[in-house]
Amino acid sequence: MKIMVVGGGGREHAIVKKIKQSPAAEEIYVLPGNAGMSADATCVSIGAKDLDGIVAFAKEKKIDYAIVAPDDPLVLGAVDRLNEIGVPCFGPRANAAIIEGSKIFSKNLMKKYKIPTAAYEVFTELDAALAYLATSSYPTVVKADGLALGKGVVIANTREEAENAVRSMMEDRAFGDSGSRVVIEEFLTGPEVSVLAFTDGKTVVPMISSMDHKRALDGDEGLNTGGMGTIAPNPYYTKDIAEQCMKEIFLPTVDAMNAEGRTFKGCLYFGLMLTAGGPKVIEYNCRFGDPETQVVLPLLESDLLTVMMACTNGTLAETEVKFSEKSACCVILASGGYPKAYESGFEIKVSEDFAAELYVAGAKEKDGKTVTAGGRVLGVTAVADTLPEAIAEAYANVPKVTFKNAHYRKDIGKKALAALK
Ligand code: AMP
Ligand code: GLY
Repeated sequence: MKIMVVGGGGREHAIVKKIKQSPAAEEIYVLPGNAGMSADATCVSIGAKDLDGIVAFAKEKKIDYAIVAPDDPLVLGAVDRLNEIGVPCFGPRANAAIIEGSKIFSKNLMKKYKIPTAAYEVFTELDAALAYLATSSYPTVVKADGLALGKGVVIANTREEAENAVRSMMEDRAFGDSGSRVVIEEFLTGPEVSVLAFTDGKTVVPMISSMDHKRALDGDEGLNTGGMGTIAPNPYYTKDIAEQCMKEIFLPTVDAMNAEGRTFKGCLYFGLMLTAGGPKVIEYNCRFGDPETQVVLPLLESDLLTVMMACTNGTLAETEVKFSEKSACCVILASGGYPKAYESGFEIKVSEDFAAELYVAGAKEKDGKTVTAGGRVLGVTAVADTLPEAIAEAYANVPKVTFKNAHYRKDIGKKALAALK
């Protein structure tokens, strides 16, 4: 089969490497991919948001199956467009991708179907939002309605911080139209868990749980990023909690989407917080998480392509989805300065004794060398029998990948280890 993967980051590299193991995958194209994954797939310089380009390429190459990984093309309707020309896809259609594309949609869905989440109010007018903040208790959480590269969420500790956040979203349009409407919600506390789940619109099969580390600096300090590292499985996510989530969150969400005429097929990502009052949904994503995928897929023992196609064909209930009993840790190496301004173009060197998985997120070819080209540059993933071993192995391999100004967190998995004790 000819497979096409849309996207270009570490998540897509992890998907490509797993798909490569499938006997059915003969040719793999990745649009646009990046120079760091060119040994694993044919990179094609068509942007992930260039739907016309994607459709034209799929037609020209007679692609048999497409995997649309990032949020933007899913929300823009890449799956709808590819289906129109007869290309089956992994991923939701636009009318279901809205579960991530609009926070207001997802909050209202959860309210209507009694799926546990933080209490909230929606605002379309600046004055009304500001008036509400005058009577709020703090901390409170301000969220832009639409996609904002993971940066549209502000935890405001004071009224002033909340007002600044609302003004920057609604008045200064820091995130463009994504911030024309905002959600202001209750601040929740508790361990966070990411659960990615395969679904064909009827059956939900959760993957192994994971834990992201969103802040830029050790000890969860610094700015929010796309994610600086992950571990799997997440020790806070016990069997009992998993059962509760299935009953109160996962199945009700898939059923709710059906009831709304928005059947969701693909990977549904549940960002959960385990509060004193039970697990609650912090966010939904309509796709695989990044860098969650870089620890989840290495632990998948079943054939990924078979499972994905079962999601597309509605046969997930009859398909085996098996995960290993091992653990994984992924440490992200970012460009110094990220998530703020950073320099790119530094050569990436991998020493010969590197003995882990390398998932490249931001790299390009320059004068025959692979150089950095992005905030998050790459991820180093190790799989081992236990979590402490996986963490130790990942960190033993991190120094074997070098580029100028590299920055990484030294404490990925530390919280998880504390939970194990
Ligand atoms: P999101 O982009 O929605 O995942 O939000 C980014 C991060 O903000 C989450 O991973 C949480 O750590 C935090 N967050 C979001 N919503 C809340 C909330 N209601 N209470 C506490 N923390 C939150
Ligand atoms: N790692 C969080 C996300 O993919 O949204």
